[in-house]
Amino acid sequence: MSHNEHFLLKRMSPAGQVYDAGTMTLVIGAGERIEQVQFNYRPETERLDPRHSTDEHDLTFGSNGRALPGFIDDFLPDDWGKKIIAAHIQKRFLNVCEVIENSGIHSTLGAIKIVSPREPLEEHIWDTGVDIDLLHSIPDQVWDGDLDELRNREDTLMMLIRGGSQAGGARPKLIVTEKQTQGSRFWLVKFNRSSDPFNYAHLEWACLELCRRAGLPVPAAECMTLPSGRAALKVERFDVMPSGGRYHMLTFNSLLKNEHDQDDALFASYEALADIIRHYSYQPQTDLGTLFGQMLINMAVRNTDDHLRNFSLIRDQTGWKLSPIYDVVPNENLDTKHQLSCLYSQYLPSFKDAEKAGIRCFGLSPEEAQRIVESIKLALQEWPSIIARSGMNENDREFALTVTKHTNRS
Ligand SMILES: Nc1ncnc2c1ncn2[C@@H]1O[C@H](COP(=O)(O)OP(=O)(O)OP(=O)(O)O)[C@@H](O)[C@H]1O
Ligand SMILES: [Mg+2]
Repeated sequence: MSHNEHFLLKRMSPAGQVYDAGTMTLVIGAGERIEQVQFNYRPETERLDPRHSTDEHDLTFGSNGRALPGFIDDFLPDDWGKKIIAAHIQKRFLNVCEVIENSGIHSTLGAIKIVSPREPLEEHIWDTGVDIDLLHSIPDQVWDGDLDELRNREDTLMMLIRGGSQAGGARPKLIVTEKQTQGSRFWLVKFNRSSDPFNYAHLEWACLELCRRAGLPVPAAECMTLPSGRAALKVERFDVMPSGGRYHMLTFNSLLKNEHDQDDALFASYEALADIIRHYSYQPQTDLGTLFGQMLINMAVRNTDDHLRNFSLIRDQTGWKLSPIYDVVPNENLDTKHQLSCLYSQYLPSFKDAEKAGIRCFGLSPEEAQRIVESIKLALQEWPSIIARSGMNENDREFALTVTKHTNRS
């Protein structure tokens, strides 16, 4: 016997206006398998996915039993957020409805909130996360994933639920607000774990700084140290306007799911990402150049974790475009095989073959491809000074320098 679960999708516009975007019904069968997902757009509302036609209001999606359509899936947590929810409701295994109902209570990334129609409306607060000054009150072992001690600390659990139960990704993180005299700043804070082989916060800061020096769009980023000495990276949110309004986002994982059962794509390529940009971006030439530049940075710093959830489209007042760059970190094993392929290979083109790739895969002119390659090479010359400024210890500095050594040969 199957049963239906209903949810309401709320959306906030960049101007800060909140409206009902549509309703979602999950048809759930035996063993809590998702059999079908129905989504009904409210008339006259903007589409949550650029592939959804404005003429069609009622959409039906199949499922492999677990998978949800991307525009829903993107707004649900991965392992970190699910761990927090499990601690909060004191359950070891969560079903999909428990995840939806308990994720993003108050703080969420992006412009939508998935809520139960049973909740009173005042619960749907669009707050921008935990006050950064309260981070010191969270027990340090939390960042290592140890939430057992929190059973009797409802205040701390609420803080984690508030800022950490929705954001995706595997690393421990929290949505926070920093009040400043000139207005608030909104950050996603990513915490180091004691088991990390390197200081990821500082390494990721250095990689984002490298992108910035190469002229690529990246959010502001700063390293911080908790009272325990643990480091964390603050990345400024690009989905929230200074006034509080929101931009909707969609990962390329969503856009490349299997359309029949919503399974994630097993293999994907930079060419597939470029195709999506050509179809939906209102500034394809700029975005194709950015994606090409990011691919070269990923190759240079051995960020092999270039999976589809680490690239997004963002919907601003004009339309869809590639989001600023995020989550660029070298692989600890110095692997060279990437998640995404280019020119049919998961070993990305070196600088020697880069221009050819820029022209063939990203459709850039020879001049533009050459300009971008040169800008990345020039930025790489600054890598040692970026590392020197990053605050890494000697061991990590050595690793960071080793990471890009292969580029000297091409
Ligand atoms: N600056 C930002 N502004 C808004 N949203 C962001 C920002 N940075 C990242 N995100 C969103 O948060 C999600 C998690 O961030 P991120 O990829 O950096 O975390 P992670 O834990 O390192 O991920 P992974 O599991 O890939 O290692 C991203 O998939 C993206 O949707
Ligand atoms: Mg990520």
